[in-house]
Formats: sequence, C-alpha cells, structure tokens
Amino acid sequence: MSRPRLLPEPVGLKFVTQETPPDWDAEFGFSGPLELEIGSGAGGHALEYCRRHPEVRFVAFEWRKKYARDTQDRADKAGLRNLRVIESDARFIVPRIFAPDSLAAIHLQFPDPWWKRSHAKRAVIQPAFAELLYGKLAPGGLFDMRTDVQDRGVTMLAILESAGFKNPLGSGVFHPYDPEEVPSTRERRYLASGEPVYRARLLKPA
Ligand SMILES: C[S@@+](CC[C@H](N)C(=O)[O-])C[C@H]1O[C@@H](n2cnc3c(N)ncnc32)[C@H](O)[C@@H]1O
Repeated sequence: MSRPRLLPEPVGLKFVTQETPPDWDAEFGFSGPLELEIGSGAGGHALEYCRRHPEVRFVAFEWRKKYARDTQDRADKAGLRNLRVIESDARFIVPRIFAPDSLAAIHLQFPDPWWKRSHAKRAVIQPAFAELLYGKLAPGGLFDMRTDVQDRGVTMLAILESAGFKNPLGSGVFHPYDPEEVPSTRERRYLASGEPVYRARLLKPA
C-alpha cells in the first residue's frame, strides 16, 4: 500500500509564531463565539461541528501534520469559513493566542493514545494546563471531554474540577450519551461497536 500523501502546505503556522492573541474577527472575517479543540485527529468532530454551527469560529489543534492539513483542506473544499487548524502542540500555543475569558467552549476528545497508567505523565490534561484552560474559558463556557479509557476519564475529571471547572452532575460524575452531540472520528467507531465512552460536560461558573 502506498503511504498516505502529505499535503505540502503547512496549516496555521502564522499562529505558532504569534506572541499575543490575533484579531479573531479579522482572521475569520466575522465575529461570534470562539471555540477550541485540542487533538482534532482526522477531523470528524471539527468538520461536522463547523458545518452545524456556522456562527462559531473554531480553532483546532492537531500536531500530526497529515491530519491537520487534510482537515483544513476538507474544510476549505467544503466552503467552511469557520475552521482554522493549527499543526502544532496546543500546550505551547494556546497560552499565547487566546485572551483570558475568550473561549465559549473547549473540546477534548479521546486525547491520549497512551492509555497505560505508566504513561499518565504524558497526558495532555495536567494541573497547570487545566488551570490555564480554565483561565481562557469565558464564564458560563463549556468544557466538553470524552475518553474511552475510564481511568483517564476519572483522573481528567479530578484535575479539571480541581482547576475550578464545575460538574453540574456532581463531582466525578460522567455525562450520559447525548445523540445530539457531534461524534468525533474515533467516537463513531465506539458508537458502532457499543464500547463505552466516558464523557463530561463541565462549566466555568458564570
Ligand atoms: C487518540 S487521537 C483522537 C483524535 C480525535 N479527537 C478523535 O476523537 O477522533 C488524539 C489526537 O490528539 C493529538 N494530540 C495529542 N496531544 C496533542 C497536543 N498537545 N497538541 C496537538 N495535538 C495533540 C494526536 O496527534 C491525535 O491525533
């Protein structure tokens, strides 16, 4: 089988060198809620979410270049004006390009391919990054998290709640499946197979 083709044009690099938040209104050409996805993978969630919510300006981080470029390319070809994919490590760029209280929602789905307990230190949600994300979310904003690894879900919930996020269902309680929500590429597999997914919808108090 031939190797998948890497599109030649990098995506989102101008944001990577930016020291301060860009003018998002100018960047997208319209104003509206600003949302962030970390680790958009093959882009199933980002693309469908942007299609359903044209009023949202959606910034997706994916450090695997092929995935990032393919997702931006598919968005452009579909005429989606509201998605910007950035092929970089979200942990380094998010602190600089979003102003405090500027995000209406943060999406994090099946973030860590390293599911062993010994790999926990590689997990994207660590206390300092959780606190940083809390600061970027607007009061009343949503943190939407999903994982297939129960242990990881429990740990992420604990870290996020310690950072200040409130769980309307009660501390440590997962959210039931909602057929209205947009599934990610990976989630579609689990929905088809019936394997469990652990979800949370946390809020920053208004
Ligand atoms: C297991 S995949 C899930 C992808 C997608 N969210 C889904 O549910 O189909 C996790 C993705 O997050 C990306 N990723 C992990 N940590 C990241 C980071 N710090 N910055 C950008 N991308 C990251 C990985 O490259 C990978 O594509």
